[in-house]
Amino acid sequence: ASYEHILTEIPKPGVGLITLNRPKALNALSSPLFEELNDALSKYDGDKEIGAIVITGSEKAFAAGADIKEMAPLTFSSAYSNNFIAPWSHLANSIRTPVIAAVSGYALGGGCELALMCDIIYCTETATFGQPEIKLGVIPGAGGSQRLTRAIGKSKAMELILTGKNFSGKEAGEWGVAARVIEGGKEELLAQTLKTAETIASYSRVAVVAAKEVVNKSQELSLREGVEYERRLFHGLFGSKDQKIGMTAFAEKKKPEWSHE
Ligand code: HXC
Repeated sequence: ASYEHILTEIPKPGVGLITLNRPKALNALSSPLFEELNDALSKYDGDKEIGAIVITGSEKAFAAGADIKEMAPLTFSSAYSNNFIAPWSHLANSIRTPVIAAVSGYALGGGCELALMCDIIYCTETATFGQPEIKLGVIPGAGGSQRLTRAIGKSKAMELILTGKNFSGKEAGEWGVAARVIEGGKEELLAQTLKTAETIASYSRVAVVAAKEVVNKSQELSLREGVEYERRLFHGLFGSKDQKIGMTAFAEKKKPEWSHE
C-alpha cells in the first residue's frame, strides 16, 4: 500500500515496521495520518507472515501530539458527533499482534498516548515524553490519564498531567513506562527494537497472541479472575498443534518448526 503520512516495510522476517512520516509537523497525529496507521496495523495484523509490529518516528520526534491545527477549530458538537479520537482505540482494542513503540525525540500528548497504547516501549535516554494538554486548555484524550496512571501510579501521573511537565527517556525507564532505554541514537534504538520484534515473531503465533491477551487482562480483571482467565487460556493451548510441536522439539533437542496452528 502507498501512504502519504507513514512508511511501511518488512525489515526482518515476520516483523512489520511502521514509520510515522510527517517530518514538517514533527509527526503530529492528524486524522488522515491515523487512518493510514490503522489501515497499516490492520493489514499487518491480518497477515499470517507477520508476528510483531514496530511503530517508530524520526530521530527528533516519535510524535509531537495530536494535530493542534486540526483540533483548534473543533466545537463540542463536532467533536462529540464525529466521535473525534475514537479511531485511535483501534490499536488497543483490535490489534492482536504485539506492537512495540521505538521512541526517539518527542512523544508528547497524543504521541505519548500512542506509545502507551503499544504493548512494549523502547526509547532513547533523551526521548521526551509528556502530557502537555493542560497548557492548551484541554486534557489527555486518548487514554493518557488512564494508562500513564496505571504505569507510574497516581501521584506521579497527577503531577505530570496537572503541570504539563515532560519526562525523559531515562525517567521512562526508571518508572517502568519503557521496558528498555537504549543508549545511542535512533539507529541503535531501532536495531534493538527490531531484534526484540524478531524474537517475538519467531515463536508460535497462537501462543504469542494468547500471551498478549492474558497480560492485557491483568489490567482489567481482579487477580483471582485474571489468574482463572489465564488458566483457561493455558488449558486451551493444549489444543494447539504448536504445543505438541514445541514440547516434542524440546524432548528431541531440536528447534521447533512452528505451524502457527
Ligand atoms: C500540529 C505541530 C505539533 C502538533 C509541532 N508541530 N507539534 N503541528 N500539532 N502537535 C509543528 C509546528 O507547528 C511547526 O510547524 C513544526 O511542527 C515544527 O515545530 P516547532 O515548534 O517549530 O519545533 P521546535 O521548536 O523544535 O519545538 C518542538 C516542540 C513543539 C517542543 C515539540 O513543536 C511543541 O511544543 N509542539 C506541541 C506539543 C504539544 O503540545 N503536544 C500535545 C498536543 S495536544 P510550522 O508550520 O510552524 O513549521 C494532544 C491532545 C491529545 O496531543 C488528546 C487526544 C489524542
